[in-house]
Amino acid sequence: MDLFSEIEAPEREEVRRLRRELEDANYKYYVLNQPTISDREFDEKMHRLQDLEAQFPDMFDPKSPTQHVGSDLVKGQKSKVKSNFETVKHKYPMLSLANSYSREEIEEWVRKLPAGVEIVCELKYDGLSISLWYEKGVLVKALTRGDGQQGDDVIQNIKTIPSVPWRIERNDIPDFFELRGEVLLPWERFEALNKEREEQEEPLFANPRNAASGTLKLQDPREVARRGLDAYLYYMLGENLPGKTHFERLETAKAWGFHISDAIRVCHSVDEVMNYIAYWDTERKNLPVATDGIVLKVNDLAQQAELGFTAKTPRWAIAYKFPAEKQLTLLKEITYQVGRTGVVTPVANLEPVQLSGTVVQRATLHNEDFIRQLDIRPGDRVWVEKGGEIIPKIVGKESQTCQTSQTSPTFITHCPECGTVLVRVEGEAAWRCPNEAGCPPQIKGKIEHFVSRRAMNIDGLGEETIDLLYRQGLLHNIADIYDLKLEDIAAQERLGEKSAQNILDGIETSKQVPWSRVLFALGIRMVGETTAKKIARRYNTIDSLQWATAEQLCAIEDVGPQIAENIVRYFEDMRNMEILERLREAGLQMEGEAAPEPTSDMLAGQTIVISGTFAHHSRDEYKALIEAHGGKNAGSISKKTSFVLAGENMGPEKRKKADELGIPLLTEDEFLEKIQA
Ligand code: IVH
Repeated sequence: MDLFSEIEAPEREEVRRLRRELEDANYKYYVLNQPTISDREFDEKMHRLQDLEAQFPDMFDPKSPTQHVGSDLVKGQKSKVKSNFETVKHKYPMLSLANSYSREEIEEWVRKLPAGVEIVCELKYDGLSISLWYEKGVLVKALTRGDGQQGDDVIQNIKTIPSVPWRIERNDIPDFFELRGEVLLPWERFEALNKEREEQEEPLFANPRNAASGTLKLQDPREVARRGLDAYLYYMLGENLPGKTHFERLETAKAWGFHISDAIRVCHSVDEVMNYIAYWDTERKNLPVATDGIVLKVNDLAQQAELGFTAKTPRWAIAYKFPAEKQLTLLKEITYQVGRTGVVTPVANLEPVQLSGTVVQRATLHNEDFIRQLDIRPGDRVWVEKGGEIIPKIVGKESQTCQTSQTSPTFITHCPECGTVLVRVEGEAAWRCPNEAGCPPQIKGKIEHFVSRRAMNIDGLGEETIDLLYRQGLLHNIADIYDLKLEDIAAQERLGEKSAQNILDGIETSKQVPWSRVLFALGIRMVGETTAKKIARRYNTIDSLQWATAEQLCAIEDVGPQIAENIVRYFEDMRNMEILERLREAGLQMEGEAAPEPTSDMLAGQTIVISGTFAHHSRDEYKALIEAHGGKNAGSISKKTSFVLAGENMGPEKRKKADELGIPLLTEDEFLEKIQA
């Protein structure tokens, strides 16, 4: 036997290291838009890797960064990113925690523990649990909880979190360990995201937890990176790990560079635990992320092992949930707010009250049904709550409030802004002002949306300036923007010639904004950014879109009957047609690149769901193929699904649903044969 065959040449390890480093560099450059090494350094590493791969041809790997050069690199990276998440079985099941709500319940739990037990108190972060796997110090998987037994590998999204190390360069770390923690969207990021979604008429996230969950499931890590997730880690698992206590393990993890909270305390009595709770129930309001309680854990790992688990939860840990903060206060008056889309929201004007660290004097009353159900009237003392949601809400009223009148509370009938009679679409909870073209907040809102960053991106034309120009009678609709003169703008209060010129430059540049964004900027109800892109891909000129029927529009992915009708209605309105004509004359892009014509109508009328991972094409390519053959791609299985294009690792839930509804599954090859590709 060759003595040397057992010893690996150090260059082989170097190949693996360089591949990882180059892959990381690509990811940071192309996906995160945050290059960390210079082009020169990148090239040097690439050359070295190429040399080494030539020396060790047996190490050839089609996935090596050397195999994707130049522009292919971006494409390769992109298609990799677009692939669906892989479902992976957890090494240790991901359990939940039993809840408690009072000192008595905590005492009851402590009674079952060994005498003199040490209890670690931690904050209970209100996000999504994540399990990070480190092999030889390298982050190799990041699994969501899933069903507790298996989760989705969202490593590409987790890699966008700056505090999660991709690699730990130390020689005192075990070959394998797992760190569990919580992924969160900090309050500040959550608020900014919701503001943006409001501007784009996209549904708002109710709380940071939902926002984090939606973000973690995105297939585009660039967007995930932009949103700014964070993670706090609180549990280390694995074989032969250092430390005899939970606390020591977390200290170790902290020393290895992991993001571990500073709020962790070892307690020796229920009194100490209650002090910790009392302190953090107030102090948590100053934290950058949402917390909903504390977690108590037995510190000693041998004791933990002895206590073990029930089917669902560990016996060695318990959660204590903070009560949602509520206050009673006087409802002075109900006023009404008209939004950009004409929705009228009732607002409770309150006697100011201190809640979760801020003074609250206004809270949403949602809609008419809500007011009626709770029978809320001015003069009532109402409970106001600031829970997971950022906007305070009224959750009830003091039961003994005596009614001054017997009639049920009434909603306004006319728009408080323009006096138009309000309408309520059947099946919708909201009353709307239908006077889209004449109601001030709707006019200004449409203009604000049009100029916003992700639409026409006209710098300098902010809310205030729009309001000024509107009040001066210079801006009544989006087309007026292109008639603005330097002297009109410069004559406004607080606006000099320089800012006026900036605005005009921005207006000029906006004429280059591509067709899909122009379509989004028009502000057709429910046509968000993504939908606009999909529509623009199918209809590459405004003229073709103008004549599309609702039925034809429904064939586009994400376009349902309601959106289709909104589009058709938009083009039926002569005022919109006039505006469009003026925008066209101003030189806006009303045409896009030619969309691929359907190559057949083989899949016409069929709705197809794609699930799993594929060998021959990426998911996006399959979506394009389905569309190119006249089919419609849908995200979830329903009675309407014609068949499922099922790849490897199809999600178990989807498989179950398809079985239940008797929807056929086609393999990748069967599908390709069907369309004869
Ligand atoms: S320990 C086996 N510690 O709360 C127990 N969980 O309601 C592992 N959570 O699924 C969990 N903060 O997602 C632990 N400091 C903390 C936590 C925490 C938040 C979450 C976690 C868990 C859920 C249970």
